[in-house]
Amino acid sequence: MPLGWDQPADLEKDPALVPDPAEVDVPEALRASIQAAMGRYPEKRSATLPALAAAQRVHGWCSPEAMRQVAAVMQVTPAFLSSVATFYDMLRTEPVGSRYVYVCTSVACHLLNAKSVYDEIAREAREQGLEDCEVREFECLGACDMAPMASVDGRYVGPLDTSDAAELVSAVKERRDVLPGRGLQDSDFRLPWDDGGSASQPPGPPSPPDPSPA
Ligand code: FES
Repeated sequence: MPLGWDQPADLEKDPALVPDPAEVDVPEALRASIQAAMGRYPEKRSATLPALAAAQRVHGWCSPEAMRQVAAVMQVTPAFLSSVATFYDMLRTEPVGSRYVYVCTSVACHLLNAKSVYDEIAREAREQGLEDCEVREFECLGACDMAPMASVDGRYVGPLDTSDAAELVSAVKERRDVLPGRGLQDSDFRLPWDDGGSASQPPGPPSPPDPSPA
C-alpha cells in the first residue's frame, strides 16, 4: 500500500476545513462569477464545476490557491473541491500551460483516423517548439458529427486530417484564428456532407389513397 494510504486523515486541518472568507483574498471578478453560478442552483454545490472553471480561467489551473478562493466563496472545504477537480479531465490539477489542444480520440473520431491526427499534431508541436500549451488526447468532446475533431482553447475544429496539423499548430503558436471556416461557431462552417438542407429529403412512405368520393 502506498505510503500514507493507511494513515487517518486529520479532519481538523486543511484541506478539510471551510476557509474563513475574511482570511482569503479573492479577485472581485472571480468572486462575482462564483456567486453568479451559485445563484443559478438551489444547492450551492451544484455550482462547483462552473466555479472551478472560473477559477481555472483566472489561475490557469486549479491550484491550491484557486481552490482555496473558491472554497472561501462557496463555503465548502478545499478537500471537497479537490475531489471534484481530480475527477474531471477539463479541470487541470497541475500547471500544464495557459492554452490547450485536445484531440478527441474516442470511438467516432478514432474510427476516422484520429490517432494519426493527434500524433501528427503532437509531432508538429514538438517540431515548431510550441510552448505554454497542453496537447493531449481527449475523450469524446460531444461533437462526433465533425469527427475527427479537436478543441483548441474551446474552439471546436474539424473534420481534421493529418495535413491540418502544421497549420493548426502554427496558428496556435502565432495566436491566429485556428483553421478559419472549420470551426463549429464559424458562420460559414459546413460539414463536408452538409448541403445546408437544400438536398431533397429521402423519400418517405407513400401517401394513403384519397378517401373522398370521385
Ligand atoms: S468521439 Fe470524438 S467528438 Fe465524440
